[in-house]
Amino acid sequence: MIKKCLFPAAGYGTRFLPATKATPKEMLPVLTKPLIQYGVEEAVEAGITTMAIVTGRGKRAIEDHFDISYELEHQIKGTSKEPLLDEIRALINQCTFTYTRQTEMKGLGHAILTGETLIGQESFAVILADDLCYNDGDAPVLKQMVSIYEKYHCSVVAIEEVPADKTDKYGIIAGNLIDGTDDTYRVDDMVEKPNPEDAPSNLAIIGRYILTPDIFDILRNTRPGKGGEIQLTDALLEQAKKGRVIAYKFKGKRFDCGAVDGFVEATNYFYSSFKGC
Ligand code: UTP
Repeated sequence: MIKKCLFPAAGYGTRFLPATKATPKEMLPVLTKPLIQYGVEEAVEAGITTMAIVTGRGKRAIEDHFDISYELEHQIKGTSKEPLLDEIRALINQCTFTYTRQTEMKGLGHAILTGETLIGQESFAVILADDLCYNDGDAPVLKQMVSIYEKYHCSVVAIEEVPADKTDKYGIIAGNLIDGTDDTYRVDDMVEKPNPEDAPSNLAIIGRYILTPDIFDILRNTRPGKGGEIQLTDALLEQAKKGRVIAYKFKGKRFDCGAVDGFVEATNYFYSSFKGC
C-alpha cells in the first residue's frame, strides 16, 4: 500500500521569474487553486493521506496554505464566501502534512533524497506539482499508477509520447511492452534530456512516480549528472538495469505548468471545463 506522497517543491522556478521571486512556483493558481493543491487532491484520490513536502527558502506560503487561517475563517464565517474554503479545509482535516527543507538546490534526485527523513523505508509516490494532470471523470493519474505498482511491486514512472524535437526537455525511456498490455513497459534504459538524435524513443517521463525505498541508497551514491545536478533519472537507471522499473502510459492530460505556455493552456482548459470554480 502507498501511504505517503513526496512533493519536491524547492526548485527556484526561474522560468516564471519575476512571479516566482517571492512566491513559490507551486503556489501559482490555475483558476482559484494553487498548483500544489491540485497535486494533494490527486494524492488523496489515490488513497494517500500523508503529504511529505520538500521546501526551501522562500517557500513558507506552502505551509501556510495547508493550515487554518483563524482570522480569515472568523472574518468570512456565515457569509456567502465561507464555502470557498470548504475544499482546502477538507484536505487539512483529512491529511497530515510534513515538511523538510532542501538547503542547496542540487536537483530533483537530491530533493528526493532530502525527503528520505519524511518517508522512511517504504514505497512512496512522488508528484511534481508543476505537472498538472487531469483525467476527465475517470481515475486520476496517480491512482492509475498505484494499481500498476500493486501488480508489479517495483518503481513506476508515468510516461507520455512527446514530439521528437522535444526529447531534450525530459527523461526518455527505452523498453518493451509487457505481454498483454498496450500501455505498460519494462524499462531497460533511460537518458536525461537527450538530443533528438541520441534519444532511445519519444517516451518521456512526466512528474508522477512511485518509487521503492532502495532509491535512497542509490541516490546517495549517484554523482551529479546533466547540468551538475543529482538526477533522479540516473538513479532510476540503476533500478531499471535490474528490471525494476515499469513505465506506464497514463490515461488523461498533462499540462506543463512549470512553463508559461503549459500554464496558460491549463488555465484555459480548466476555465472552459469548470467556469467559476
Ligand atoms: P524543475 O526542473 O521544474 O526546476 O524541477 P525548477 O527550479 O522548479 O524550475 P525552473 O526550471 O527553474 O523554471 C522539477 C521539480 O523538482 C523540484 C522543483 O521544485 C520541481 O517540482 N526541485 C528541483 C527541487 O525540489 N529541488 C531542486 O534542487 C530542483
